[in-house]
Amino acid sequence: MVGNGRGILAADESVATMNKRLEATGVAPTAEQRCAYREMLLTTPGLCDSISGIILSDDIFTAQVSDGRPFPDACREAGLLPGIKVDTGAKPLANAAGETVTEGLDDLRARLELYASAGAAFTKWRAVIQIGERLPSRRALVANSHALARYATLVQEAGLTPIVEPEVLMDGSHGLDRCEEVTQTVLHTVFEQLAEQGVVLEGTVLKPNMVLAGSDCEPRAGTDEVAAATVRTLRSTVPAAVAGVAFLSGGQGVDQATAHLAAINALGPQPWELSFSFGRALVDEALQAWRGDPQRTGAGQDALVARARANADARAVWAAPAGSWPGRAQRRSAASCRR
Ligand code: G3H
Repeated sequence: MVGNGRGILAADESVATMNKRLEATGVAPTAEQRCAYREMLLTTPGLCDSISGIILSDDIFTAQVSDGRPFPDACREAGLLPGIKVDTGAKPLANAAGETVTEGLDDLRARLELYASAGAAFTKWRAVIQIGERLPSRRALVANSHALARYATLVQEAGLTPIVEPEVLMDGSHGLDRCEEVTQTVLHTVFEQLAEQGVVLEGTVLKPNMVLAGSDCEPRAGTDEVAAATVRTLRSTVPAAVAGVAFLSGGQGVDQATAHLAAINALGPQPWELSFSFGRALVDEALQAWRGDPQRTGAGQDALVARARANADARAVWAAPAGSWPGRAQRRSAASCRR
């Protein structure tokens, strides 16, 4: 999922979120268009050279592409691992004004069996953490981390790989330092809870936010500052046993997310692969180019593959000196995703 210089495409928007994005692009918010859009993405020629897997939402995972194949089968035939978002969303947390806890544990064991038998290779669960004057509360951090850990053990029991996504939102006017402090506390709490529940870290992918100043903070932090704060945070909180780190983009612009990923990787080798699992920062240009028009499928796919390659290249900015551990660029060129 995170090796060979590739990343993971997050195409798991809920029906409501996907409808909003389609409408904003002038596309009818229908089930047909939601499926057509995901089919346009996953049938992109050459996508598997820079993307290892796609995270889908439940409504798409159980649907068919236009030739009748189930989406998970179409993914595998395109050389992409099918993944599924299994949480049921962030809901208000009792006794914690303005904060949420992500739900979906109740029937998870049964749902995982169904997803595994339908071909899922991995899963995702997203916890949402808001920065505010007095937020996040310890209560919200523990509740969300506990849920992430319970989710991850169930997923491993089902023989699948969990992506653990604790997202510290970019909303707000806080500075880079505050995001660093909160992200460190969040990751400490998450790994405490993963240990408590016996999650196997070697079979877990962490999907964190990059350390960024709030979207209303001026002046913005520079690319190198973001990269240094992000790597410092991960190095002080994430055990080396974790299989890999795949960043979310969190509302950054497409070029900004790619530039940050390159600057992070330019800081040299870390105990884990530093990959990407972007949603908006991978697909925004493709959605704009496609606009729901079957005649523009090629334009959408060209935009997607170009952005996916740019991010895979951002991972390859560091190369080891000759004779040492193979550089990422070398490992990537040796890889083939075709089955
Ligand atoms: O849940 C959020 C997705 O997994 C990542 O989306 O890169 O647009 O933040 P994003």
